[in-house]
Amino acid sequence: MLVRILAIESSCDETAAAVVQDGRKVLSNVVASQEEHKLYGGVVPEIASRRHIEVISQITKQALSLSKCELQGIDAVAVTDAPGLIGSLLVGVNFAKGLALSANLPLIPVHHLRSHIAANYITHPELTPPFLCLVVSGGHSHIIEVEDYTGLKVLGQTRDDAAGEAFDKAARTMKMPYPGGVHLDKAAERGNANAYKLPRPTVQGSEYDFSFSGLKTAVINRLHNAEQKGEHINVENMAASFRAAVVDCLMENFVKAAQNLGYTKLAAAGGVSANLLLRRRLFEECKKRGWQAYIPGLALCGDNAAMVGAQAYYEYQKGNVATMSLNAVATLNIDTLS
Ligand code: KG4
Ligand code: ZN
Repeated sequence: MLVRILAIESSCDETAAAVVQDGRKVLSNVVASQEEHKLYGGVVPEIASRRHIEVISQITKQALSLSKCELQGIDAVAVTDAPGLIGSLLVGVNFAKGLALSANLPLIPVHHLRSHIAANYITHPELTPPFLCLVVSGGHSHIIEVEDYTGLKVLGQTRDDAAGEAFDKAARTMKMPYPGGVHLDKAAERGNANAYKLPRPTVQGSEYDFSFSGLKTAVINRLHNAEQKGEHINVENMAASFRAAVVDCLMENFVKAAQNLGYTKLAAAGGVSANLLLRRRLFEECKKRGWQAYIPGLALCGDNAAMVGAQAYYEYQKGNVATMSLNAVATLNIDTLS
């Protein structure tokens, strides 16, 4: 029997709803991005929660109507319950609880990073665990062993800034609009990655962990010093040099982890997996070694609800269903169930 899940995502500044069939087939996928945060150069949590409240029921209605199944055709409601901005998460969780209760449907809580990984199941229907996944977003940089759909283990993670955060801060110093990662990526495509020398920090004694704050500070200091001295900096070259340094750090540990643990299927996920250099490098490194590379299609890299519906299918099969006492949680390990 087909399982159709209505999924809701509101962990940061995207309000999203989707209907996904059997974890892999997207029947509808609606995402509303909040543009207002651009004015402030970052997400303002209070504004984010308010905007979620304003649009969540309209977005959900749209997702239901585009999927051609009304609420009667839905088997379960899924929602991102952790991690994220607590006020934002609460809007989605409470909306989903109300919907599940009124329609008498099971409620499935989904971990945000698990759902980012599951975006790969939509783009690559042939992908099945076990595989190794690099999850890189605005708040996380993790190397994760996906042992099975609901059994995940953190192998390495950032000790300070997430890769997306470093991209955004570097981009801001280069006077690019928020969120700057995508703008920096575009500028980097036209630049020379060898133009500026930047460090590739490692974490002593933890071969799979990352550290991006030193690299971020190096680029910010370089730009500020140049400004003070009136020295010209080629932004495209600086963007390319910075991007290459971040991607080198990520790929170095990721490939080492795969080699050491014997993984031959490597996936990437999260907002930063939209990065063009990271995408090329993952495919190149895998091709060299006869490994398989998986990355979600560009539209599924950032926050969306289709990926929540994909992961929810496997959580549901495993019996991970919540009661009406489900609460949102701002921080939660990927290997802990809600
Ligand atoms: O997964 P996501 O949409 O939200 C979080 O869960 O954090 O990730 C957002 C992050 C932002 O830092 C954004 O700048 C970054 O992903 N990002 C990129 C690119 N597209 C989005 N970073 C580098 N290159 C890109 N093309
Ligand atoms: Zn995300």
